[in-house]
Amino acid sequence: MTASVPADLDAYLTENNDRIHDELYEFLRIPSVSARSEHKVDTARAAEWVLQSLRKAGLTAETHATSGHPIVLGEWRTAGKGAPTVLIYGHYDVQPVEPLELWSSPPFEPTVRGGKIYARGAVDDKGQLFLHIKALEAHIATRGNLPVNIIFLAEGEEEVGSDNLAGFIEKHAKELRTDAVVISDSSMFAPGLPSLLFSLRGLAYFQVDVEGPKSDLHSGSYGGAVVNPAMALARMLATLHDADARVAIPRFYDKVREWGDVVRTQIRELPFSDSEFREETGSPALGGEKGYSTLERIWTRPTCEVNGLLSGYTGEGAKTVLPAKAMAKVSCRLVPDQDPEEIGRLMQAHLDSVAPKGVTVKVMHLHGGRPWKAEPAGPLFDAARAALSAAFGREPVLAGEGGSIPVVGDFERILGAPVLLMGFGLPGENAHAPDEWLSDENFVKGMRAIAVLWEEIGTRLGTGS
Ligand code: BES
Ligand code: ZN
Repeated sequence: MTASVPADLDAYLTENNDRIHDELYEFLRIPSVSARSEHKVDTARAAEWVLQSLRKAGLTAETHATSGHPIVLGEWRTAGKGAPTVLIYGHYDVQPVEPLELWSSPPFEPTVRGGKIYARGAVDDKGQLFLHIKALEAHIATRGNLPVNIIFLAEGEEEVGSDNLAGFIEKHAKELRTDAVVISDSSMFAPGLPSLLFSLRGLAYFQVDVEGPKSDLHSGSYGGAVVNPAMALARMLATLHDADARVAIPRFYDKVREWGDVVRTQIRELPFSDSEFREETGSPALGGEKGYSTLERIWTRPTCEVNGLLSGYTGEGAKTVLPAKAMAKVSCRLVPDQDPEEIGRLMQAHLDSVAPKGVTVKVMHLHGGRPWKAEPAGPLFDAARAALSAAFGREPVLAGEGGSIPVVGDFERILGAPVLLMGFGLPGENAHAPDEWLSDENFVKGMRAIAVLWEEIGTRLGTGS
């Protein structure tokens, strides 16, 4: 039997639709850029805003200071005997907004155009975090209770590596004991097509500093006789891949699992077109590891990408200079069973081995996270399937994801609970980029899907009273 959205919950969300949107816009106006010290106070303000919003919904809540940004913890523990417990996780911090001039409307002034809510954090992850709070509110306001016990955990450091989160979960493992973890910090496969994720890639992020002469030099007086750090770095970066676009770091693929024909077939059956994907990115051509389709490349294969480059003169016109140093930010996306620490050691050894004489090379491992792969079956996934079908009128597809949410592996490892990744973003939503947006339709349906999810989980995972 397919579930539908219960009339009372649906009516509550409809009647309060304007207020809910106003509250979302208020949340989106807070510039909680976790990476920037000048936004430390704003980031704390966003934590406080989440705290108050949880309390208004009826949960008990408190903030926990960390050495970075605060963790907000909310609770609802009165669902009744035999009711399962669910931990909701999300993040209230956002990525920096630069380059500002590429935004069509200011990043912290939410603006609705063509059914899209534009603002930094609209989809990643404030809008998705907020829709969870409203789904809880709908239950408590209409029925006075929830069918599940809730632990609501919001952090403010996801976009900078979640340095304090694993420690917090370990320290509070007893209080955080849960039957399942639910996260909405990802996207649906296509408009109107809800999705459940079966994988996330991991991450190992590096900064590579190459230093040569003690200062910039005249490129005529010294060029050709002194090793140029920019050229040295370029040559080193060029050794990261072979001609088939495979990563050429020795032993990089040692732990990589092949996904098998079942998953490959599932992936092939999804409605996906290379040319549309190419158009969406505006890239003249697609490219990647030989022997794999685009979705396989993104979901099932590891990568090594340059995220940033800095050296020499980059201003207007020409300046004949031999730069003293060069820097690159390089990150590898990882798949099961690669380990970020081990990949860090392999990267270091490889770059040491290809560093030309005449420069010094320093590799810093900035942060990382493990890859994740789920077994998308059982009552929890059935509950999610029913909830998504009820709200979107369509069965969800199983999809992978190329991005990373490092805490997912930590939840499984520390709390021993399965994780459900149920996101409401859409392809092209510009997360981390100018003009980030959240589909209003997905926001509205997302609240309903989550409201139904608590019913479905209560029924399917509860042990009765
Ligand atoms: N929401 C994203 C993760 C994500 C990305 C899910 C793309 C679905 C699609 C998350 O906030 C994020 O951006 N994570 C970072 C990792 C972090 C360690 C900086 C990422 O993937 O780059
Ligand atoms: Zn993000």
